[in-house]
Amino acid sequence: MKQFLKDVLQDLGETPKRLNSKYFYDHTGDGIFQQIMNCEEYYPTNCELEIFQHKTTELARVLKNGFDTFDLIEMGAGDATKSSYLLKEMLRKKFDFTYMPIDISADMIGHLEKQLPEEIPGLKVKGLNGEYFEMLTHASQISPKRKVILFLGGTIGNFETNAALDFCRELRSYLQKGDVLMIGFDLKKHPDVIRKAYNDAQGFTRAFNLNLLNRINRELGGNFVLEQFDHYPSYDPATGACRSYLISLAKQEVCIEGKVFTFEKDEYISMEISQKYSVEETESMAFNSGFKPVNHFFDSRHWFLDTVWQCE
Ligand code: TRP
Repeated sequence: MKQFLKDVLQDLGETPKRLNSKYFYDHTGDGIFQQIMNCEEYYPTNCELEIFQHKTTELARVLKNGFDTFDLIEMGAGDATKSSYLLKEMLRKKFDFTYMPIDISADMIGHLEKQLPEEIPGLKVKGLNGEYFEMLTHASQISPKRKVILFLGGTIGNFETNAALDFCRELRSYLQKGDVLMIGFDLKKHPDVIRKAYNDAQGFTRAFNLNLLNRINRELGGNFVLEQFDHYPSYDPATGACRSYLISLAKQEVCIEGKVFTFEKDEYISMEISQKYSVEETESMAFNSGFKPVNHFFDSRHWFLDTVWQCE
């Protein structure tokens, strides 16, 4: 049975029901996410872009960390828009490094390996197509150089806080003393700003959530009626948890590959968490997972943090 089906059957069988947000990103989902990133209210992408455009020199110096040569590994590189500023600067400074993007999408890796050296002459690229930790193991096998890891986009926020800590601990176990990690955190801020970013006026976020039900219909033969579900975004300033839910508008049954799921009226499906942190919370997470925070890079509004941690 394919993993997508297995996960959906398992997750909708739980109480409360949930779906895994990694399945948002099919072809349609990718397109809607582009629209979210381009809309007025969604600030995280622009904040981090600002850091990469305006703090490039300092970023490059800090990440080099005195190494003569190193591998620059980006976990979940996507199209590498943000990191390309850093790559150009590192080449301009004549740093000796290989860029190793890790991505789950084979297409994206193929594209980066072809496109980046054309766009940035002299850049050495070794794409790694697969899961983060498997590809980190692979990177250590093919190269003994010091590792500088980028984990951008606030993806760490898509884990519950306990799971985020576990993830950092596991990541640390693949690295060695002196290696460096730069990790992006979306910061706590006025709740209205956060709520609007996850509930844009044009309804892209709503469409993004509902698209997963559509994807289940398309790929797994489900029969969700989309009009019977409402998008409910929430942000709790007390915990920093920003959560997306879909609410069942009626008592109804949904069938997926012969399995029937009953939804009560007003029952929710938990779709995604985007956890917001204080700077102090990110520092505790560093110390509790075997790293030492050595630098903080903020955008001008201090809404987003790219923090550099060194392996202790
Ligand atoms: N996961 C990203 C984030 O936390 C992208 C995202 C924005 C998202 N809005 C969403 C994911 C709504 C799921 C649901 O910013």
